[in-house]
Amino acid sequence: MELAKLLPMPELLALLLLLLLSLHFITRKIRNRNQNQNLPPGSYGWPIVGETFKFISAAREGSVVRFIQERMERYDSRVYKTSFLGDPMAVFCGPAGNKFLFSNENKNVQVWWPSSIKKLLRSSLVNKVGDEAKMTRRLLLAFLNHEMLRNFVPKMDSIAQIHINTHWQGKEEVVVHSTVQKYTFALACSLFLSIEGPLHDSKISSRFHQFLKGLVGFPINLPGTRFHQAMKAANEIRQEIRNIIKQRKLDLEQKRLVSPSQDILSHLLVTPDSNGRFLTEIEIMDNILLLLFAGHDTSRSTLSSLMRYLAQFPHVYDKVLAEQVEISRAKGEGESLQWEDVQKMKYSWNVASEVLRLSPPVTGAYREALKDFTYADYTIPKGWKLHWTICSSHMDEKIFANPEAFDAWRFEGTGPTAYSYVPFGGGPRMCLGQEFARLEILVFMHHIVKRFKWDLVDPNEKFKYDPMLEPVNGLPILLHPHH
Ligand code: HEM
Repeated sequence: MELAKLLPMPELLALLLLLLLSLHFITRKIRNRNQNQNLPPGSYGWPIVGETFKFISAAREGSVVRFIQERMERYDSRVYKTSFLGDPMAVFCGPAGNKFLFSNENKNVQVWWPSSIKKLLRSSLVNKVGDEAKMTRRLLLAFLNHEMLRNFVPKMDSIAQIHINTHWQGKEEVVVHSTVQKYTFALACSLFLSIEGPLHDSKISSRFHQFLKGLVGFPINLPGTRFHQAMKAANEIRQEIRNIIKQRKLDLEQKRLVSPSQDILSHLLVTPDSNGRFLTEIEIMDNILLLLFAGHDTSRSTLSSLMRYLAQFPHVYDKVLAEQVEISRAKGEGESLQWEDVQKMKYSWNVASEVLRLSPPVTGAYREALKDFTYADYTIPKGWKLHWTICSSHMDEKIFANPEAFDAWRFEGTGPTAYSYVPFGGGPRMCLGQEFARLEILVFMHHIVKRFKWDLVDPNEKFKYDPMLEPVNGLPILLHPHH
């Protein structure tokens, strides 16, 4: 039952005040405990809320790079302290910070996510550490590795073409961000759950927006909060996945038009981990919810940024088009794209990589200190939250000359040095969906450039993080089909 219905307003306010006061004293205790240590320089910001709202509003105003760079300049470009979502936090910067965090998993640090994410994604991989995490990653990677995914390229190709015929063909204007979501979501639903066809009436699709908007923030489960809406949406999506699991179990038992490798759901139902244990139904539900989220919104963000850069830089568009036309020429009329074709899209992938350098879908990710340790001569106390930041290396002119400029040639040859290019993270918790994302981005690029050229309706439209990078007005474009 909802708290607001249970308690009259004064009691509710008193309860909130009590909660805030307790949080305040806990925060002060934690801060005082570390007072005599040589902590990184920085500011904890306001009591309780720390710099949370400053960070979130910088992210939503599209100025997160400036927010981080200002603090690196003011305090220390290697590591500085802040406070986020009620916890003291050290922000690790640059390739050295990335290297330290990525190579210390399960030693000095382990993966950590804000409690809103933990609560929404329950027993999924993001809440697992140590051996359990290794097992779950191995299970998921057995489906998401390139050997498996190469068989799905013709399917991705067909989904991309149906998507473009349905949502782009015959239109003069398209709002990119909401439109490309239909493609990335359709792909995820098809490869993870074998849900095919139009998705606009599916409950999973209609509830996803609310789920996403409550992922990062204070996990206050009161009516009207983003988190409350997200919890409700997550439960409804899970219920839908549960129905699909029930049916699939029956179909697999009776060998009815299903195969153990048709999608990630069947794969998880029939594959045990290396100890012979199968994931429980709840674990399967939670991991599929995680994959649906991690696996479509990141690629959606990348495709929106890609469409912007291709419109802004016609010389880049022309080279991508030339490469894609060349690949088509070598194929028979109407023949599907294969994995080997995608391997030839070298310049196009350099372009996508440069998009991910300049406009990564996420700002970085989090770890937690497992013990007191020293980094850059500072003490990092046990229990502190740690944040590694993508922009602190992607926008460093010592690593990427002229970092503001779009230059796909940076990725030619050996490419950037280790730990400096990190849109997918690194180390034992690196993104599991890198190959999936590469294939879906390149397949989409192939078809969209071959069919259209486009102009931005507002060439100055800004992008913001909420929680993923997205265009503030959805990126409307004017389409010009090739004849
Ligand atoms: C352009 C697209 C994508 C980007 C930029 C991206 C980025 C990231 C980043 C930065 C992390 C955190 C890594 C860390 O903490 O070190 C991550 C984790 C993760 N990603 Fe992705 N991702 C993308 C696409 C995908 C796709 C398509 C899937 C699934 C098919 C996926 C599944 C995951 C999972 C399951 C994790 C958690 C891994 C763990 O905790 O061990 N991602 N991703």
